[in-house]
Amino acid sequence: AFKPLVFSGVQPTGNLHLGNYLGAIRKFVALQETHDCIYCVVDLHSLTAQLVHDDLEDQTRQITAAYLAAGIDPAKHIVFNQSRVPGHAELAWIFNCVARIGWMSRMTQFKDKAGKDRENASLGLLAYPSLMAADILLYRATHVPVGDDQKQHLELTRDIAQKFNNDFSDRIAARNLGVTMQVGEEKVQGYFPMAEPLIGGPATRIMSLRDGSKKMSKSDPSDLSRINLTDDADTISKKIRKAKTDPEALPSAVEGLEGRPEADNLVGIYAGLADTTREAVLAEYGGQQFSVFKPALADLAVEKLAPIAAEMRRILDDRAYVDAVLRDGGERAGKLAEATMKDVRGIIGL
Ligand code: ADP
Ligand code: NA
Repeated sequence: AFKPLVFSGVQPTGNLHLGNYLGAIRKFVALQETHDCIYCVVDLHSLTAQLVHDDLEDQTRQITAAYLAAGIDPAKHIVFNQSRVPGHAELAWIFNCVARIGWMSRMTQFKDKAGKDRENASLGLLAYPSLMAADILLYRATHVPVGDDQKQHLELTRDIAQKFNNDFSDRIAARNLGVTMQVGEEKVQGYFPMAEPLIGGPATRIMSLRDGSKKMSKSDPSDLSRINLTDDADTISKKIRKAKTDPEALPSAVEGLEGRPEADNLVGIYAGLADTTREAVLAEYGGQQFSVFKPALADLAVEKLAPIAAEMRRILDDRAYVDAVLRDGGERAGKLAEATMKDVRGIIGL
């Protein structure tokens, strides 16, 4: 069987927000207790949004500082940025030749980001999931904590792993590189594991505070739509006060949240921050107006986020330390990656 290993990443594209924290980073922190973990700042991915940005290095340091401030231990686990390890790009190229165009063009994220003028979208935007598969499989990672929006990309990662394992099964077996794994009912042999997404809890998809039908996102032009990890207490309170809601009181049971996306979102955020369930939040606040619930949510958000923001600032003041973490993490990741690439080059005869 494959050794359990966690891999995940965040793009250095600014405005790290509550959705990134609750949907991803907080889970990264928790998994350290039970797994070996590799946490990456995926700078190559960010090129799909904008090829040249002058502050890319600073954005990379920001995400790194957020990882460390949230409680990731870079001595016990690996923290690094993607472009330091050339295997990501090399394996992504091989996966581009394994995956099919149809698989990529069906991805909802591609369709959303490419918009109407698909012919003019970059090839990188189309191939994004291939690079993501390479990120994960370069370490033969088995578990990937992500938000709900990445579920489809994880399925594609499994499709790529499965096609590689099938297409090259004889060559994998001839080199004794196969590992037996259980896939559903079947036992199969393969070089790459079927990586499983870890998506769970009350906060897998945090929505915009201004529009309950859009996910909270770094790229939303409205700053009021998201709580940034670096917002101060006043800003957090203001954004929650201004969050869109309906005029009803909170229901006493979760079924009452159906058809009320804004209420559902705020209750989910509370549950995520308090590390509890929507049920438990409604047991406390059911029947209350938003005029009562919003200030309580603001207090909780400030209590949980302010220490992280303060720690991020402290860490960012020591740029040499952040850079040393990335350098050291990159060296350790690079050794693991090179072992996989040696196998992969052998399997495909490069
Ligand atoms: P963004 O989507 O904000 O640009 P990334 O693509 O870098 O951020 O995603 C980093 C991680 O944060 C991913 O695991 C993603 O699934 C998660 N994530 C992003 N937005 C949300 C959200 N609104 N709710 C929950 N998780 C999210
Ligand atoms: Na995303």
